[in-house]
Amino acid sequence: MKHKAILKIVVDTGMTVMLLFLMTYELIGEAAHEWLGIGMFVLFVIHHILNRKWIRSVFKGKYTLFRIWQTVLVIGILLTMAGSMYSGAILSKHAISFLSIKAGGAFAREVHMVSAYCGFVLMSLHLGFHWSMMMGMARRIIKELPIAGRWMLRGIAALVAGYGVYAFIRREIGHYMFLQNQYVFFDFEEPLIFFLADYIAVIALFVWVSYYFSKGLKYNTPGKT
Ligand code: HEM
Repeated sequence: MKHKAILKIVVDTGMTVMLLFLMTYELIGEAAHEWLGIGMFVLFVIHHILNRKWIRSVFKGKYTLFRIWQTVLVIGILLTMAGSMYSGAILSKHAISFLSIKAGGAFAREVHMVSAYCGFVLMSLHLGFHWSMMMGMARRIIKELPIAGRWMLRGIAALVAGYGVYAFIRREIGHYMFLQNQYVFFDFEEPLIFFLADYIAVIALFVWVSYYFSKGLKYNTPGKT
């Protein structure tokens, strides 16, 4: 595998892990959250440098449904990332508190909440969009499995996604995305691993949905197989 491809995998994996831990906010400590947020921004920039070929071609060629879906996700993520960084800079009490941009704190809180939770869902959908690439790499191993084994893997994925629906509702993620709750509830008594397991299941849910949805769009796009 080429160095660039390996670097892309490292950066994308790093971003997914960081996203997961960013969602834990105070459960890992306020300062750790802020430094992770800055780390996420750095990886986000590197991710775009590594994928600059895609950006250069945005205004070229025809837009199929498949490409529209991909571009909508990318724009959504760009907006939520900008929202998280802008509001994070205003709300910061540790890493970048020296910037002293304190105006509009209440609005920044709302922007941060909406950006964080919508960004979480959009990034998971984006991951699902590119999941076939991951499957491509794992194909050699999967191909060696008997048919029953492959169906078992599909069944496990569907079960995890099903649990993700429950976790999504239980954790009230939809409420935070649309500001139906003004404050996020964190249970400090709960072991961190339970929180992470639920959020991993929610990521899996959106990866699953987006993987099959993108496959359907690709199937209906002439010239794409
Ligand atoms: C993609 C990047 C980020 C994500 C996904 C994220 C996620 C979250 C989440 C889930 C919360 C708890 C819910 C809430 O109160 O809104 C939160 C709160 C917070 N985050 Fe972030 N964050 C990100 C970047 C940052 C950055 C870069 C900073 C500052 C350097 C930051 C500072 C804060 C602060 C100060 C709070 C508490 C807000 C309050 O007082 O209500 N975050 N973030």
